[in-house]
Amino acid sequence: MKAILQTCIDVEERVGEIYQQLVNHPDANDELREIWQEMADDEMRHAHRIRLVNDRFEVAGVLKCSLTNEGAQELFDRAGEILLDVQEGSLSLDEAIYASVELEDAFLKTHHGYAESGNEPDLQTMFKALAEADREHTMRLKSYLNRMNDGDGLVFDEGSEAP
Ligand SMILES: [Fe+2]
Repeated sequence: MKAILQTCIDVEERVGEIYQQLVNHPDANDELREIWQEMADDEMRHAHRIRLVNDRFEVAGVLKCSLTNEGAQELFDRAGEILLDVQEGSLSLDEAIYASVELEDAFLKTHHGYAESGNEPDLQTMFKALAEADREHTMRLKSYLNRMNDGDGLVFDEGSEAP
């Protein structure tokens, strides 16, 4: 249990670090910087929230749960790859936005899965809230992309193509 929550904390912090770095992407405009800054702050808050729950479980001596570490660990590894790219400055602005959306989508799936499979109401509530926050991040990024591209160029729908 503790290992899983610790991995979840590590993921939030690592992804927060990615967004914090992306705030300084040379091609980002003010709006995008603000979005990434708020996302970075959110992830740090999430890490804090999980840590509080983790501490509480530790005090209560709850050690077993039905969650598996796999999803969180995968996310942590993928976030590590993206963080490296970001640190090397090798992502274009578009790639950086795509990577952010990819992370949030993966986050959403993992948190949602944990919310469904958990056997502790406190944990389920927490993971549900985290999944909701991921959804908001994704929506924010996608709405930014839609406005910036006016329906052309950078789109996520497979059916639509640039003229
Ligand atoms: Fe988060």
